[in-house]
Amino acid sequence: ESTTEVDVAAIEPGQAIKAVFRKQPLFVRRLTPAEMAAADAVPVDSLRDAASLADRTREGHRDLLVTMGVCTHLGCVPLGAAEGEVKGEFGGYFCPCHGSHYDTAGRIRKGPAPTNLEVPEYAFTSDTTITVG
Ligand code: FES
Repeated sequence: ESTTEVDVAAIEPGQAIKAVFRKQPLFVRRLTPAEMAAADAVPVDSLRDAASLADRTREGHRDLLVTMGVCTHLGCVPLGAAEGEVKGEFGGYFCPCHGSHYDTAGRIRKGPAPTNLEVPEYAFTSDTTITVG
């Protein structure tokens, strides 16, 4: 299947962009130190879908969160990947369809979604480029 290249150089800390991967929305977010600290402060065992920020990012690039932009409840596109949009109660993404709140690691924290936003297969092909798929 096809892959998608994303140039992540221009994504500032605290900012997220939307791309498209296999016809579905893809979110790429550069976390601030505070957002990383917030994600790390949560006991993993307390989570509905237990995973750490380190589990969900690449070594040496822990500030770059790459997820599908597809709510794991019924597939709406969450808000929070563009400036000025609502990020929800946990500072990540918010799905307005039925009120799922995702945190700064894209993990489900509140609402009906059963699992975290999916992290697709991807790799860094340079310090500033990822290839998804
Ligand atoms: Fe996102 Fe239902 S589809 S909360």
